[in-house]
Amino acid sequence: MERLLDKLIENRESGIYPYHMPGHKRRPCGGLGHEIFGIDITEIDGFDNLHQPQGILARLQERAARLYGAEESYYLVNGSTAGILSAISAALPRGGHLLMARNCHKSAYHGAYLRGLELTGLFPPVLEGYSCFDAITPGQVWNALDADPGIQAVLLVSPTYEGRISDIRGIAEIVHEKGIPLIVDEAHGAHLGLAGEKPENSCQAGADLVIHSVHKTLPALTQTALLHVNGSRIDRERLRRFLRIYQTSSPSYPLMASIDNALCFMEEQGKGAFRRFEEGYGKMLKELESCRRLCFLPWEKGVQDVGKLVISVGDTGLTGRELYDILLRDYRLQLEMAGDNYVLAMFTINDGPEAYERMSRALLEIDRAQPQGKRPQSADRAGWFSEGLAAPGISLAEAWDMETEEAELSCCVGRIGGEFVNLYPPGVPVLVPGERMTSALCEKIQGWMDQGLTVQGVERRGDRIVGKVLKNVQGYGADRG
Ligand SMILES: Cc1ncc(COP(=O)(O)O)c(C=O)c1O
Repeated sequence: MERLLDKLIENRESGIYPYHMPGHKRRPCGGLGHEIFGIDITEIDGFDNLHQPQGILARLQERAARLYGAEESYYLVNGSTAGILSAISAALPRGGHLLMARNCHKSAYHGAYLRGLELTGLFPPVLEGYSCFDAITPGQVWNALDADPGIQAVLLVSPTYEGRISDIRGIAEIVHEKGIPLIVDEAHGAHLGLAGEKPENSCQAGADLVIHSVHKTLPALTQTALLHVNGSRIDRERLRRFLRIYQTSSPSYPLMASIDNALCFMEEQGKGAFRRFEEGYGKMLKELESCRRLCFLPWEKGVQDVGKLVISVGDTGLTGRELYDILLRDYRLQLEMAGDNYVLAMFTINDGPEAYERMSRALLEIDRAQPQGKRPQSADRAGWFSEGLAAPGISLAEAWDMETEEAELSCCVGRIGGEFVNLYPPGVPVLVPGERMTSALCEKIQGWMDQGLTVQGVERRGDRIVGKVLKNVQGYGADRG
């Protein structure tokens, strides 16, 4: 089958002179050379058009659909973000009612804001000992849908950032019984169900719309993603309309070639690569079983994804941030994120033996060097969320457009938040505009900032932390959370 990258290289070597965009004219400039500029083109003859594909891009998208078990797939060059915005916009009418997992990425909230949606929050259970969210269960979805017949679509994230996987097959059955669509943000699961591997992906499990960040867990360039659609609950013309709105009108060919490249690799060599990946990862986990203080979320197919190594500081007395810093400073290992009491390291099929050996050696050494710590690890990354989205009756769509004022964090308690607050990464909002700010949340924000974690949406000014609350809206005054 034809490869986009081959075609781009052929074009580069063809002698055809580019009297068209982009402005670099396929010539090197500064530190960036022939390699990348030479294949960076626009929609010239023979290269199709992503927004109306009829040639090579149509064929590549068909191949992506076959590979993932979808009826149709769309290449995305603006990340899963564009896929999530398009999926939400297509699945619901303006002002519609969405049941949405509270641990969704901020792009889902942005979609709800843009379309003025009413949100009902679905709160995942908290994973004991790790203080992060566990997977949403079919029972939770059933209860939420049963309680509110007005819900018009369901949006979940699976696997979560930390690798927790929901029973999408079971959930899809429940959602479809109500005659509404299921959207799965599978940004972290582009590797699932490929090469005949288990667990299956959400397309195979029956979801109507599925979004994959190819760049997160497969060997592809940042920003590359896919949107898949199945069944008749989604109007595909409407979906394409929103893709045209949310995606650039100048899709990058190097990015699209990178999606093609990653999927070809998976098709041709995925089975072997996956087997080596699972062996290497499994062997490392086995070695780490001898740790006395650090703890690891066990890898369990269909429950905890392969490659997401969640390391709890256990009773070492270290904070997550301290462990993260030691790994970087002393071992030159850059992790994905640090939370209160755990860190996350990501492994993919493109890791070689060095990745496992270095991590294993470092963690075993750190574990042995740690005396039993005294610091109690009661910090909770999840339990401090507000009790419900838009608890005081102001929707996200209304709140984010209302007038705000700055207030010192201690004075925010009981007030209604006017800005998203994200503990970053992963970009799951800990506060959504329109939610009440509890004392637990404000204390957590203070604690995270004191630990040096990145908190977006509040600002440190000298020794004060300042947030944004709705002006002229007093909230509840007293803290009920
Ligand atoms: C669960 C989840 N969904 C969606 C996104 C957005 O993905 P992208 O960066 O590909 O736009 C992220 C990004 O981190 C994410 O963690």
